[in-house]
Amino acid sequence: MAIEQIKIGFDNFSYVIYCPIKRQAAIVDPGFDATRILQFIASKKLSLDYILITHHHTDHSSDSKRIKSLFPQVKIVASEADGKKLALKPDIVVSDGSQLKIGAIRVDFLMTPGHTPGGICIIVDNEALLTGDTLFIGDCGRTDLPGGNLAQMYASLHEKIMHLPDELIVYPGHDYGERPFDSLGNQKRTNKTLKTKTLKEFSAIP
Ligand SMILES: [Fe+2]
Repeated sequence: MAIEQIKIGFDNFSYVIYCPIKRQAAIVDPGFDATRILQFIASKKLSLDYILITHHHTDHSSDSKRIKSLFPQVKIVASEADGKKLALKPDIVVSDGSQLKIGAIRVDFLMTPGHTPGGICIIVDNEALLTGDTLFIGDCGRTDLPGGNLAQMYASLHEKIMHLPDELIVYPGHDYGERPFDSLGNQKRTNKTLKTKTLKEFSAIP
């Protein structure tokens, strides 16, 4: 399993997940302009199978349409709720417990609403956790945008992400933290949003 973290625009992170053995790949959140992502895929001679969309916001999803026109075989993967808001209808709709294979890589999906109603996190080979705008290094995603919900975010963080193994490496959707990625264990100990014990305490974070 290999993951390439690519910074797009000012502070968005896109990712290429790829299988070095079977040379198959998926883009996670192509962002506004996937040119550098596509260059990376070409340079590694990978076959692009999927575009995985963590949530519908345009800074994460908008270049999917151009990629699909360049590579019509590519399947767009999103949740039902956020998939409805994409410019292109998803080819595959995922929910809690859905799985995909990228070559020899196993990908598991976790519904984590709160930033958007259909936000998802992606677990790759039980080693990496791609969190979109659900969890950042040191913080979590906003809940005050349309479709955001503070109580859902608290539940996603505390009833789902907090129960995942410490060894997972968190790869967020924006470069907002003091480092570009971190272990989930370290985030459980240091991230102010994961350290809260009640919804009331979580709501009081400025
Ligand atoms: Fe977002």
